[in-house]
Amino acid sequence: MINDFKAGLKICQAVLVRVQKIGNSSNGGVFARGLLEDNSGRVPFICFEAGLVDKLRDLEGPTAFMVAGSVDINKFASDMSLQVIVQKIDNLLPQDDIRHLLPRGDFNEEEYKRKLSNYIKAVRTPGLRALLENIFSGATYEHFVVNPAGMRLHHAYIGGLLQHSVDVAGIALALAEQIGDMDKDLVIAGALLHDIGKLKEISSNIGFPYTNEGRLLGHISMSVLMVQEVAAKLKIPAVRVEQLQHIILSHHGENEKGSPVACATKEAFIVHYADEIDSIMNQFNTHEGKNPWEFNKMLQRFLLHERL
Ligand SMILES: [Fe+2]
Ligand SMILES: [Fe+2]
Repeated sequence: MINDFKAGLKICQAVLVRVQKIGNSSNGGVFARGLLEDNSGRVPFICFEAGLVDKLRDLEGPTAFMVAGSVDINKFASDMSLQVIVQKIDNLLPQDDIRHLLPRGDFNEEEYKRKLSNYIKAVRTPGLRALLENIFSGATYEHFVVNPAGMRLHHAYIGGLLQHSVDVAGIALALAEQIGDMDKDLVIAGALLHDIGKLKEISSNIGFPYTNEGRLLGHISMSVLMVQEVAAKLKIPAVRVEQLQHIILSHHGENEKGSPVACATKEAFIVHYADEIDSIMNQFNTHEGKNPWEFNKMLQRFLLHERL
């Protein structure tokens, strides 16, 4: 991690490369300089290798690479701060670990994994329990606990989908308990699965880009298809699956907000409002500037981030 860099250290790690200047040095060669970044911090870099400078010249913005070089004291900086002399820049491979480059949420992942497992265990309806156990297992589970729930708008950090889904289940259950006469198993299943298609809609790579499939189908359709596939495999009665799929299809509340059907059951309303309030509340955790009032793109209004 960049925070641990010391003068004399040889490094080879995945970092975000931010180019600030490319130019000609006094001896006729070329150079590129800028910043290397990861979640722990940033450090200036300089690079004199013509081939690498050409590679950096084509970048459109900060880009992740595997960078090798040596950490040195920057003799031109008055505070004797560090810089990296870059000697090698390779494209990342799919197996490279880039978790230290991705934004992290301020929540306890282990606690949320435990909560997820407890919610699943609380479901007594046989078909729903089997469906949840089947979906939240193996590679899908591993993917679910790291994927973000948004590219930018809400829960846009590693594990965001886990946190959001578990919190929606918690809020929805509290509402269900207060209101009463509700199929709580259906509420839990709907809450945990409402955004499951985001696993395929939003990639957990740098920048959390939308996938082609995600842009073409959207997470609501993909969530319904994932449930359909597993339910067919487990031979769950259609009537139960349809109730659950209705919650997923209507979770944005209205047709104008992207739901093909509007909420028609008590459980669907509960999950919809729990989803909405959880994504709104998450906007208050992403405040960065000094001004207590910040314009929020998702809600299209100024939000007040401090008590006056
Ligand atoms: Fe959604
Ligand atoms: Fe959601």
